[in-house]
Amino acid sequence: MSRWVLAYDGYDPATEGLREALCTLGNGYVATRGAAPESPADGVHYPGTYVAGCYDRLQAEIGGLHADNADLVNMPNWLPLTFRAEDGEWFDPDAALKEDRLLSYRQELDLRRGVLTRLVRVRDRAGRTFRLAQRRIVSMDDPHLAALETTIVAEDWSGALHIRSALDGRVANAGVERYRGLPGTHLTREEPPPQSGPELLLLRASTVSSKIGIGVAARTRVSVPAKASRLAEAGWAAQDLTVDAERGAHVTVEKVAAVFTSRDRAVEEAGEAALGAAAGAGGFDALLERHTLAWNRLWRRCQLSVDHVEVQRVLNLHIFHLLQTVSEHIVDLDVGVPARGLHGEAYRGHVFWDEVFILPFLTMRFPEIARALLMYRWRRLPAARRAAADAGRRGAMYPWQSAADGREETQLVHLNPRSGRWLPDHTHLQRHVGLTIALNVWRFYEATGDAEFLAEYGAEIMLEVARFFADLTVYDHSTDRYGIRGVMGPDEYHDAYPGRDRPGLDDNAYTNVLAAWLLERALEALAVLPEDRRGELRERLALTREEITRFEDVARKMYVPFHAGVISQFEGYGALEELDWARYRERYGDIRRLDRILEAEGDSPNRYKASKQADVLMLFYVLSPGELDAVLRNLGYEHGPELAARTIAYYLPRTCDGSTLSSLVHAWLLAYTDGDEAWDVFLDSLFTDITGIQRGTIAEGIHLGAMAGTVDLVQRCHAGVRTRGGALRLEPRLPSAVGELRLGLRYRGHWGIDLTCRQDLVRVALRPGAASPIRISYGAEDIEIQPGASWESPLVAGRPPPAGG
Ligand code: BGC
Repeated sequence: MSRWVLAYDGYDPATEGLREALCTLGNGYVATRGAAPESPADGVHYPGTYVAGCYDRLQAEIGGLHADNADLVNMPNWLPLTFRAEDGEWFDPDAALKEDRLLSYRQELDLRRGVLTRLVRVRDRAGRTFRLAQRRIVSMDDPHLAALETTIVAEDWSGALHIRSALDGRVANAGVERYRGLPGTHLTREEPPPQSGPELLLLRASTVSSKIGIGVAARTRVSVPAKASRLAEAGWAAQDLTVDAERGAHVTVEKVAAVFTSRDRAVEEAGEAALGAAAGAGGFDALLERHTLAWNRLWRRCQLSVDHVEVQRVLNLHIFHLLQTVSEHIVDLDVGVPARGLHGEAYRGHVFWDEVFILPFLTMRFPEIARALLMYRWRRLPAARRAAADAGRRGAMYPWQSAADGREETQLVHLNPRSGRWLPDHTHLQRHVGLTIALNVWRFYEATGDAEFLAEYGAEIMLEVARFFADLTVYDHSTDRYGIRGVMGPDEYHDAYPGRDRPGLDDNAYTNVLAAWLLERALEALAVLPEDRRGELRERLALTREEITRFEDVARKMYVPFHAGVISQFEGYGALEELDWARYRERYGDIRRLDRILEAEGDSPNRYKASKQADVLMLFYVLSPGELDAVLRNLGYEHGPELAARTIAYYLPRTCDGSTLSSLVHAWLLAYTDGDEAWDVFLDSLFTDITGIQRGTIAEGIHLGAMAGTVDLVQRCHAGVRTRGGALRLEPRLPSAVGELRLGLRYRGHWGIDLTCRQDLVRVALRPGAASPIRISYGAEDIEIQPGASWESPLVAGRPPPAGG
């Protein structure tokens, strides 16, 4: 088994959607699902192409409500390429499979080079055998280019071989079954312009409401002389090429596509730009060479190896998809992280809070990408300020779901496929998203020391979010505590108190604690700015002494609910009923979507101590034990050292992992309490997408947060790398299944930090040529490592020796 190849033998229509998502090729700017080029969208195949940040909004009537939905637009399909012999039928793998004519079929994704290969042998209805070898790339070197090389061998016949290469703009957003009843046609269909050269096709379109101009061009070349003709209709352009195929001889067809939009820089008109790029591009081999070099460079910056081949392969797959969604090509793009990658249409390509799982890995390797993602949020600060003002609040209220301009994109109703009912969706009440954004800013600053970013953008986000939360709190004189009413935590199963009409819950502990943490950090961010910048910012934000006093007061007196010796998910959680878990498991087997099960039964998860995903437990994920301890103490909550263990043990069995993010967080937390179970849960979360057939939803897009989160878990939890107070803090916790773990890191401008953890030792080396030494903090030790030097210390069973030992 290779660490670098995802391989599929045979063709299985039932799992094709999953393959398409996992074999998506992309470069951060554009991505195309790993769909068969000859097949249109038909229920089995879904050839989606998405350009980062291209959204369009359509009006809809859903469940009697007027709604509008912004979608990440499915772009014109550049893939179509098919062939036939003489007057035989066009190649169609599904018909061939049904009629027993598909002799062999293999698909391979080369993760190291970003190449998707398909090897097929097929016989047509007249008994002629074809051999097909197809390679595909979406260039990591030039983000506008993609290429498909197809070699066809007529194994046992000679005669006319017809090839059709097309561009298809007659596509819609129809990749998610649940949304299919809703409008999904986002592209205008234009008549293709006359062909501007014998090899070139061009298609222009624009999005319906956002009016993004789109140009897709293709250049198709055949390795032997061909007769060409052109076909066109609105939204579709094709070239038919006919060659004389000789028995056993190879015919190679090379299709190079270029994609541009009016959002791109240095472009006058997208169609013209696409045509120029396709006409001027090198051949497949030249493009492949530059593409491979670009991937080599990325992999050099992503060194992360474990001596466990299958785990390594999946980690590579996760890094691969992360970099295909957010590569260096997004740095100038103004885009966020779509929760399901550029790999499908689930969640309409919206941006949630998932970057909290994604940024730590990026920050220590590609800080410029992490910074660009934070800038996406900074540019939407005006929209967040407007949202806060509309809600009668100060500061910035970021949306739970975000797309083009930062307005709230959360749907008003969602469908329970089990009951067929459209239900009100209150998830926009997850105000905690703003806290995560501010937390991400601070973590970025801690890891990079980028003081300019903090002064210019980051502190402003933190202060505006802090301001919103300070204003949101309600003071209770009788208890001398502040609280937050009517919100939702990360657990989306609880959206109201049982029997109460008004949505929202009071004092969600995750929100309250993180808000208290942020109020302090925002002031710290202000304090670390140079005096003149601090003064400027205070003036710009009209931040008064009274307001700062309010921040300090709330940070000291925020209310945190407790029950049964653990932190309560929200006020009143302790009074909810226990769910009969055994009964539901026995009855339904998979109860991850318990909300749908209960609703279909006329019941509601609001009645039970049952959560979709980590909620209180997220506190232990986003804050270090020391930080959480400090916030709780500052708030005057005395708690024993066992609070974490108790709280984790309490909520784990009451959480049903309805989100892929949940088992990831659980694996993280268990690593601190129970190493072996942690490894099993880690494996579960690692293999969620790659084996995701049961859950069905991966076909609609990967779970990018969970994918990146597993890689981050290896880095920050197993290798125990944290960035705090100007030093790289190391607290390895190597699972017993891992013998050796190696990471290459970047920290505060230092390239080339090599970290090795084995069961018996941890070693850090700073490559020669580094500009200055680095500081490592390990247990009570503070170590300085000079360029070219290394440091090591013993580990006992993968962990630092016990204190004094
Ligand atoms: C989870 C959210 C997550 C979203 C996108 C939902 O199912 O509950 O926490 O942000 O998926 O990944």
